[in-house]
Amino acid sequence: MTREQYYAHLESAFPEFSASRHSVRHFNGPVSLEQIEQAVSLARNAPSACNRQHARVHCICDKEIREKVLSLQNGNRGFGHLADKLLIITADLHDIRWEEERNDLYTNAGIFLMNLCYALHANKVAHCLLNWSVSPFRDILLRKLVSIPDHETVICILACGDCPEQFSLAASPRKPVSEILTIHR
Ligand SMILES: Cc1cc2nc3c(=O)[nH]c(=O)nc-3n(C[C@H](O)[C@H](O)[C@H](O)COP(=O)(O)O)c2cc1C
Repeated sequence: MTREQYYAHLESAFPEFSASRHSVRHFNGPVSLEQIEQAVSLARNAPSACNRQHARVHCICDKEIREKVLSLQNGNRGFGHLADKLLIITADLHDIRWEEERNDLYTNAGIFLMNLCYALHANKVAHCLLNWSVSPFRDILLRKLVSIPDHETVICILACGDCPEQFSLAASPRKPVSEILTIHR
């Protein structure tokens, strides 16, 4: 993939634009805070329950903190160190109204997260989602590095950077629609 090919569909209709976004695991150089701000601004279009807008984004610019955060995460070996910025996506527990809603925090943040991925792509920020499937102990270690309020739950991390002129992408083939869609008539 060349950089030109990767960003060739930014102005295309949604099917082509959507198909052109991929997780990038090769970074080369910085992305600006303006690009990140534009992307977060666009991601706000995501729907949320009662429009409570649960998602928050913590942008980590400092190299040393970035490396320490990545050392707590298990899926960035071989490329994490190339990232210019990390976005820690959280969701605000204040935006939950009753206990049965607690899992909806992940639904609301997940919808925001996908929209943020598209918005980053639209703003030429190459990115890779990084799971935050960790023990409470690791979560506490992260909070010692980055001042995330106690009332925010960490959802996911995005490694961000500029993409090189030429790079490889994981193919990540998709399941057929028949395996996903069940029509109940
Ligand atoms: C919640 C979540 C966690 C992920 N965690 C990681 C990770 O830790 N490391 C990684 O390299 N990719 C991670 N990914 C990226 C997926 O592997 C990738 O999205 C998937 O293979 C589909 O490829 P695509 O993003 O290029 O369409 C994660 C994706 C999601 C949605």
